[in-house]
Amino acid sequence: MSNKNIENLPWVEKYRPENLEEVHGQDDIVNTVRRFVETGKLPHLLFYGPPGTGKTSTIVALAKEIYGPNFRNMVLELNASDDRGIDVVRNQIKSFASTRQIFTSASSPQFKLIILDEADAMTSAAQNSLRRIIEKYTKNCRFCILANYSHKLNPALISRCTRFRFHPIDEESIRSRINNVIVREKVDIAPDALNALLHLSQGDMRRSLNVLQACKAATGNRDEVIDIDMIYNCIGAPHPQDIEACLNSILKDDWTTAYLTLNKYKTLNGLALVDLITGFIEILQNYELNPKNRIHYLKGLSDVEYGISKGGNDKIQSSAIIGIIKQAMEYEAGGVGGIASK
Ligand SMILES: Nc1ncnc2c1ncn2[C@@H]1O[C@H](COP(=O)(O)OP(=O)(O)OP(=O)(O)O)[C@@H](O)[C@H]1O
Ligand SMILES: [Mg+2]
Repeated sequence: MSNKNIENLPWVEKYRPENLEEVHGQDDIVNTVRRFVETGKLPHLLFYGPPGTGKTSTIVALAKEIYGPNFRNMVLELNASDDRGIDVVRNQIKSFASTRQIFTSASSPQFKLIILDEADAMTSAAQNSLRRIIEKYTKNCRFCILANYSHKLNPALISRCTRFRFHPIDEESIRSRINNVIVREKVDIAPDALNALLHLSQGDMRRSLNVLQACKAATGNRDEVIDIDMIYNCIGAPHPQDIEACLNSILKDDWTTAYLTLNKYKTLNGLALVDLITGFIEILQNYELNPKNRIHYLKGLSDVEYGISKGGNDKIQSSAIIGIIKQAMEYEAGGVGGIASK
């Protein structure tokens, strides 16, 4: 790809790891698969876990390390955008798997690699027919199956692979990757905005890169520093001070005022009830409460959340939230020694 094309790529692609060194926050997995390759004993692999944690990047980087310039001939990559019904499995995968590479150098391995990305979206008929193909062509092929949810895969398919779960990437690993991008793209971002970005990404590196790029685009060519408000606005997450204001009103004001305050924030700042619940729970976790009481309000709020997901009436659900939290505080005041912030 020419330099100009690379410059125009979205950052998630521009900064996709080129080799295993650049895969951050998945050290155990990277070390293990590397050892497999060094000893020449690569099993069939299954990578699963939440989005943006490096599954596709790791296998592509691994394939590049194994095959070097021969990468294109030795690897078949199929993802959800390709048709992967039973016919493709029968024909395309079979014909790729059944041919042996004649001109292999001594250093390059004899086996080919078939990457099935987003395999949880494959039909069950296609997954079923894969089982036999995997066994039949193990001599000259290795399969790597990538998925978000392992429970959507055929158990017999899973049992043919060595499983690796990609966990959400820890904040420090995202920070070191993002810092790299910040320097290379000359992004000006305030330290608290960077912390908020890492926290809100929730272990999804793709999300953090996308948000950073959107914020950088919003500043344009002006010398503007990316601040915490821009991060919240871009992610569409409610600002912590809004959540605190709502919770304070529930804790301190009478019922009607609390209801009106909640409504005001919902309409003016576009807060969603579900986000409010998540925010309240995060703050209330730092309160010292009687465990029974905590279970009680958590159960209540989770019921409300379920009600909202089923299309429950917004007014009734917000009243319920106020009621649950107020009741918890009343129990607490009448029971074990009141509440105190940690
Ligand atoms: N562990 C990581 N180290 C470095 N960059 C990463 C990592 N994980 C994700 N990224 C960045 O995020 C982008 C998306 O990652 P990738 O495609 O590997 O995610 P994925 O786990 O396959 O997600 P999905 O389940 O949605 O397919 C990459 O292009 C890369 O820029
Ligand atoms: Mg992927």
